[in-house]
Amino acid sequence: MPNHADWSPEALRGALEQAAEWTIDYRRRVGELPVFPTVEPGRVRRALGDHPPLEPDPFEGILADFDEHIVSGLTHWNHPGFLAYFSSSTRAPSIVAELLVAAVGVNAMLWRTSPAATEVERTAVDWLRQAVGLPPSFSGLILDTASTATFTALLAARELAGTRVRSDGLAGGPALAVYTSEQSHSSVEKSALAAGLGHRSVRRIEVDEAFRMRPEALDAAITEDLANGVRPAMVCATIGTTSTASVDPVEALAAVTRRHGVWLHVDAAYAGPAAMLPEQRGRFRGWEEADSIVLNPHKWLGTSLDCSVLLYRDVAPFRASLALTPTYLESEDDETDLMDIGLALGRRFRGLKLWVLFRCVGTDGLAGTLRRHIEMAESAAGRLVEGGVFRLAAPVSFSTVCFRAATAGADPEAEDRWNRDILSRVNAGGRSFLSHTELGGRYVLRLSVGSVHTEERHLDEALEALHRAADELSPGGPG
Ligand SMILES: Cc1ncc(COP(=O)(O)O)c(C=O)c1O
Repeated sequence: MPNHADWSPEALRGALEQAAEWTIDYRRRVGELPVFPTVEPGRVRRALGDHPPLEPDPFEGILADFDEHIVSGLTHWNHPGFLAYFSSSTRAPSIVAELLVAAVGVNAMLWRTSPAATEVERTAVDWLRQAVGLPPSFSGLILDTASTATFTALLAARELAGTRVRSDGLAGGPALAVYTSEQSHSSVEKSALAAGLGHRSVRRIEVDEAFRMRPEALDAAITEDLANGVRPAMVCATIGTTSTASVDPVEALAAVTRRHGVWLHVDAAYAGPAAMLPEQRGRFRGWEEADSIVLNPHKWLGTSLDCSVLLYRDVAPFRASLALTPTYLESEDDETDLMDIGLALGRRFRGLKLWVLFRCVGTDGLAGTLRRHIEMAESAAGRLVEGGVFRLAAPVSFSTVCFRAATAGADPEAEDRWNRDILSRVNAGGRSFLSHTELGGRYVLRLSVGSVHTEERHLDEALEALHRAADELSPGGPG
């Protein structure tokens, strides 16, 4: 009779040792793998088989299948040549912390369902708050993603806008509006959809030549809405927009939201950690006036996905929007129950990996990595434009560079095709992985440095591949 109970301690040790060896080896060789897999749709599924096994498989074989069929179908976010989107990576301490989280397997929905999990989370969040220089009036928690954090903030803001949505729902209430720049992340719009405000409630405020929200345009939009009986629910400013990493003038925007009594949310999902650097702190001026802020340690600080920190100045509107305690979850504890803030009841022990990261790396070490990434991006931008083929499409901001191959007098459509082809050629090479965006209606290439594994030589390689591709492909080519 096979034993269907859990593994014995010896079996667990054997599997952990194999997994640990695999992990160390993977981290050593990931830079030699193609960063983007050459895998046709469906291949991985076919390799996995159609049905679950009736009997246990030995872990050794499972690990071999993982390596052969699954890892070969991954895009390697921990590859040093990964420069796409907002590049991120898992620092080694976060890997170990995730293991410990799985080992204890707790649910931090209430303080009493794991007191230490709640307190580690509060501590790690407060350490991050201190590290980025925000005042102690901010506290917060860890959610899965910035999308969830912004949605949660919007629910609180919606309640504070005096809509009585909690008791009466949206029907019959005043029309609400959300304000955010043309450059903000789609999660702001998605939050408005999920909160029942509708697409038409989102005011995309115009940006200036450096892709920053115009405060006077925001003021005009709010004033017009108020005159028409529309109630402003939330303004979402961004520090580090998704396309260009531009920074909205938060101080000036805060003056507008203060004057009109509107909730200010700051999306610093990518760039937030850079506030740890004294030389970057000025770019965050005014964010201490926000009602809520989101920053993602899983983007640029090196925790594994997921770890998104939502900070707020007043917990009351969050509780007012979502706190709901059934009898079976009632407790007498005079402590924070984090399930009251947000939709989810079950809560992962996310605080541990952030706390372990602070302990293992220290704030100086974390800041040093961010500084190095910014320096590498700035230096890459300088070398990119040498030779005159590539031009910057936006000011270099934090560790993100937007650029485009351009030739004098060329047809912009042909140039778009040329840039698309350059990107495909570079990414197909398997050594570097970049992404694209659109600015002013034109196709633009994007490079963002954010991985703890990326070194100067990996940027050299990417720049060489870009220049080679631009030379070999014709700007007027068939596309
Ligand atoms: C500025 C900004 N905000 C929010 C998000 C959404 O992040 P998440 O995937 O954590 O929801 C992104 C994603 O890249 C982003 O760039």
